[in-house]
Amino acid sequence: MKQTPFKANITAVGKYLPKKVITNQDMEKLVDTSDEWIQSRTGIRERRKVQKGEATVEMSTNAVHNLMKNHNISPEEIDTIIVATVTPDMILPCSAALIQKNINAVNAWGYDLSAACSGFLFGLESGAALIESGRSKKVIVIGADTMSSILNYEDRNTCILFGDGAGAVLLEPSEEFGIIDSELRIDGSGGEYLKVDGGGSLNPASHETITNKSHYVWQDGKTVYKFAVRGMADISYEVATRNNLSGDNISLFIPHQANKRIIDATAKRLGLKESQIMINIDTYANTTSATLPICIAEAYENNRLKQGDNVMLSTFGAGFSWGAMYLKWGMSTHA
Ligand code: COA
Repeated sequence: MKQTPFKANITAVGKYLPKKVITNQDMEKLVDTSDEWIQSRTGIRERRKVQKGEATVEMSTNAVHNLMKNHNISPEEIDTIIVATVTPDMILPCSAALIQKNINAVNAWGYDLSAACSGFLFGLESGAALIESGRSKKVIVIGADTMSSILNYEDRNTCILFGDGAGAVLLEPSEEFGIIDSELRIDGSGGEYLKVDGGGSLNPASHETITNKSHYVWQDGKTVYKFAVRGMADISYEVATRNNLSGDNISLFIPHQANKRIIDATAKRLGLKESQIMINIDTYANTTSATLPICIAEAYENNRLKQGDNVMLSTFGAGFSWGAMYLKWGMSTHA
C-alpha cells in the first residue's frame, strides 16, 4: 500500500472506436471458422477495424478529444502524455509526440510504453508515480492499438481474437480518491508463446521476413490461456485480499478483455457476480493496450461507476506481463 500525500485520481475519460465493424460472419469468409466457435471459445461477436490512413495516433487523438469534450481542460495544462501501444504509427517519432501535436498540448512531454495487453495498466502505474511525486499535475494515459496492422488474416488462431481501438484517461492529484495499490509483473520466459518476430532490430524487415509472415502476431493460444487464467486470477486475488476486498465490497471489476473464459475464471476467484464485472469483449474483441481505458470510459458512460466505488483493474499479456490495481473511483456519476 502506497503512503503518499497525493493519490493519482482519474478525473476524465475518453474513447474512440473505428466505425467499420467486422462480424464473426465476416471472419467466416476469411478463415475456416464459425460464429459458434468464436463465441463459445472467446465471447467475441464482432470487432472494429481502421480504414486505410487511420491508425494508432489518429485513434488516440480522437480518444483524447472525446476526453476533453467531457471535461473542462485546456490542452496547455497537460504536462505529460503516456501512450501504451505495440502498434505505433511508426518506429520514430513516438506516438506521444504526434498526439501532442494533434491535441496542441504545447507544454507536455511524453513517451510510448510497450507492454502489450498490460501496457495501459503499466502506463497508469507510471503516470501515478509522476503524480504522487509531485513531478506532474495532469497526465494523459492512452491505451491504443491498431491490431489489424499486425494480424495475419489467414491465421484463424489469431485473427479472430483482436480488434482496433483507443481509450484515454486524465490523472490528477487528489487527497481522497485514486490509485491505492497495485502489483505488476513481467516474465520473459513466456516471451516465446506470444510474439511478433519480424520487423524489430533482431530480424529487421527483409524479403525473408515478409515471405515468412513474421511481421504478424503469432501465439501458442493454449499456453497463453493457461498462464493468463492463473496469472490474472492470482494477482487480482493478491491485491484484493491485502486491501480487504472481496465480492462484498468490490463495486466494479474491470479486466483486460482477451477471452470471456479468462475473465470468468478471475471473477470466480474474487467471488464476483456478473453485475460486478465490466465486459465488452463481445463488441470490440481484444484491443490489446486499449481494452482497459475503453472499458473504463464505457463503465463511466453507462453509470456503472460512482464516487467512492472500489474498482479493481486486472490484465495479462505478452511478455508475459500482468498485473492488478485497486483504485477508489473519484469522478461524480455521469450525467
Ligand atoms: N475457428 C475454429 N477452430 C479454431 C480456431 C478458429 N478461429 N482457432 C483455433 N481453432 C482450432 C484449433 O486449430 C484446434 O484444432 P485441433 O484440435 O484440430 O488442433 C481447436 O480449434 C481447439 O483449439 P484450442 O487451442 O484447444 O482452443 P481453445 O479452447 O484453447 O481456444 C483460444 C483457443 C485462442 C481462444 C484460447 O486458447 C485463448 O483464448 N488463448 C489465449 C489467447 C489470448 O488471450 N491471447 C492474447 C493475450 S492477452
